Amino acid sequence: MDFFNLEDESLFKTLDKSNMLRAIYNLPDQMEEAVFFTRAANVRLDKSQIKQVVVTGLGGSAVGGDLLRSYAGDKCSVPIVVNRGYSLPAFVGSGSLVVAVSYSGNTEETLSAYHDARRRGAQIIAITSGGELKQQAIRDGVKVVTVPSGLQPRAATGYLFIPQLLILSDAGLLPSVDQELGETLKLLRKMREDLAPGTAADRNLAKRLAKKLHGRIPVIHSAVGLTEILGYRWKTQINENAQSLAFAHHYPELNHNEIVGFDVPHELVAKLDVITLISSKNHPQIQKRMEITTRELTSSSGCRNIDVYAQGDSDLAQMFSLLYIGDWVSSYLAVAYGLDPTPVDKIQLLKKMLAE
Ligand code: F6R
Repeated sequence: MDFFNLEDESLFKTLDKSNMLRAIYNLPDQMEEAVFFTRAANVRLDKSQIKQVVVTGLGGSAVGGDLLRSYAGDKCSVPIVVNRGYSLPAFVGSGSLVVAVSYSGNTEETLSAYHDARRRGAQIIAITSGGELKQQAIRDGVKVVTVPSGLQPRAATGYLFIPQLLILSDAGLLPSVDQELGETLKLLRKMREDLAPGTAADRNLAKRLAKKLHGRIPVIHSAVGLTEILGYRWKTQINENAQSLAFAHHYPELNHNEIVGFDVPHELVAKLDVITLISSKNHPQIQKRMEITTRELTSSSGCRNIDVYAQGDSDLAQMFSLLYIGDWVSSYLAVAYGLDPTPVDKIQLLKKMLAE
């Protein structure tokens, strides 16, 4: 299998036709801009009227909800549920805040869940760049956070996540996030200089990881709580950007099933790269489990182990540092395979065929 040289700058220009790498570089700026788009929507919520929060969306538009759930799990007094389907759970009613997120505004499952929320009298907020969702919401008098269009939804995580974080924090459902957001932006701006295409692999962790992963199958392990969703984010970014398969699971659950599966077939297990996403905030027993699993169990089966560490102090910074490394790695992996990281032809084809 050909390996395309990640130090060849002209290669990025040829392959990355829709500027995915530029969008990734801009993530901290996008997160900062999202604060203004949120404020412009002027959302006012009465905390006492919210018994649960349901974020409904798919794919790149659902990930903001996942991040919110992981981040807020130990901070928010009401449950946060992420819904990826046509209808909402039975408990949704007038005491529910439903956040309908669709970057394009045209995803049929999200539009259907939006109508379900309306039928049940839930409080609704829409986050979108336009499309049918925006039109419907304006028609219905529903608050809309409108974000700029022109990106792939998975590259608009800042636009789609930050409004959710701020809306909950403004409502008093989460403590103030100003300090954590400030630290996160500063950290990502520092990280991007080391991770950008102009930085050679010997100083660029993302390029080194992409080189390692070339020709292999990544299995990403994270941990319940803060990093839980990040393994899945890495997986979906590798799927969509690098157009290759990847799998994800998290501790401690994977210790109760997946570790047994590393035995056979040997020739396939030998092709796996187990990437463990490590946060200094992990429960000490999780850390111990990670060490025992990688040192004693998975490595003896012939696969390779790679550890990737979160950076920063706050919960938000740790989460986004891991997300950011994964976004870069998946795009470099696309380039290493000689692919443009942006197009998702199969998703588009499927949506078209369903609409016919
Ligand atoms: C494409 C992507 C997809 C979309 C999904 C839903 O970059 O990430 O997973 O996010 O097909 O579409 P939207 O986000 O427009 O509702």
